[in-house]
Amino acid sequence: MARLIKNNVHWVGKVDWELRMFHGDELSTHYGTNYNAYLIREEKTVLIDTVWSPFTEEFLRELSQTVDIQKIDAIVVNHAEIDHTGALKDLIALIPHVPVYCTHNGVKSLKGHFHQDWNFKPVRTGDTLDIGHGKKLMFIEAAMLHWPDTMFTYLTGDNILFSTDAFGQHLATDLVWADLVDPWILWEEDMKYYANIIAPWGKSVDAKLKELKTLSLPIDMICPSHGACWRGADVPKAMEKYTAWANMYQENRVAIVYDTIWGGTRVMAEEIAKGIRLADPKVVVNVMNLAKSDKNDVATEVFRSKAVLVGSPSHNKCALSSVGAFLEEMRGLSFKGKKSAAFGCYGWSGEAQKRLNDTLRDIGFEVVDEGIKNLWEPDAGAIERCIEYGKQFIGKI
Ligand code: FEO
Repeated sequence: MARLIKNNVHWVGKVDWELRMFHGDELSTHYGTNYNAYLIREEKTVLIDTVWSPFTEEFLRELSQTVDIQKIDAIVVNHAEIDHTGALKDLIALIPHVPVYCTHNGVKSLKGHFHQDWNFKPVRTGDTLDIGHGKKLMFIEAAMLHWPDTMFTYLTGDNILFSTDAFGQHLATDLVWADLVDPWILWEEDMKYYANIIAPWGKSVDAKLKELKTLSLPIDMICPSHGACWRGADVPKAMEKYTAWANMYQENRVAIVYDTIWGGTRVMAEEIAKGIRLADPKVVVNVMNLAKSDKNDVATEVFRSKAVLVGSPSHNKCALSSVGAFLEEMRGLSFKGKKSAAFGCYGWSGEAQKRLNDTLRDIGFEVVDEGIKNLWEPDAGAIERCIEYGKQFIGKI
């Protein structure tokens, strides 16, 4: 059902209450998601984005109850990823000559996805589309937020920034507005989304926010492609959060992540945590078993933390596979300014710790020391060493 955004702008997307994994099985979505699409009806009727392909039929049915599809004058594709373009092929089949506004990279992505030669109208930053009643759509390229093709669309007069993936959250809601959503879930999901999707492109985020300031566009609302929309005081707040997150974000937290075979490395993790807390009672320490934890929640916790300790026993001359996968995830997410070290138990040759430290350095974390390893199961002496290690580690970060 269409929902009013402002004046002649309506939300015409899909609330996906069921979704629990996104991007294949790469991203957990504990609260589902929205695929937000927007319909603008001035002298011209313009649709911004569509929905994921499983919801094509439902989307087209509901859209046709809101507007005569034959009267759509233009489609804006802010981002070619399939969660926003899934219904495009069936929609354009109904209006084959409709102009499709997207970036030059958008043309490449859309052709790559759909192998169609639609009526593309490639745009660059500053290009506008006059939609009548004194209003225009202005296009702002936003490469890497989230793909090279991405752009924002700004509606003059109503002062709405359609920001596609940026400023989104994976949060199913039919309340439309962020200020109506449970704030704990909202901000938690906002940060998780940034940490797991946007963070690798932090430099682009920072540059885009600065560019938006330079453009001096009045922004009353930010309408992203996922989750709730921002209005009023939430607009600067959402932008301030992105500015902070894009600039070596950290809180007074330490993440201790590990996997264990028979429990020895778990004991080390917990005793190191004890040492950190003894030395600095104010620091928040989270201890997470990588094999038992949601990897995206772990990534969010690391994003928030100023340091991460990574633990694994040596196993077949390597670290455990869950720890290897975690480090590969960290490599991709490219968090900046994190301090780190490795720890773990071993029985004979003990290769894991050096491999972990080497990998941590390689992915750009600052390894503050060589960490701590323990031969066989931790005894009372080893426990004491772990506590002391935790105390001295917190002094180095
Ligand atoms: Fe929500 Fe990059 O697509």
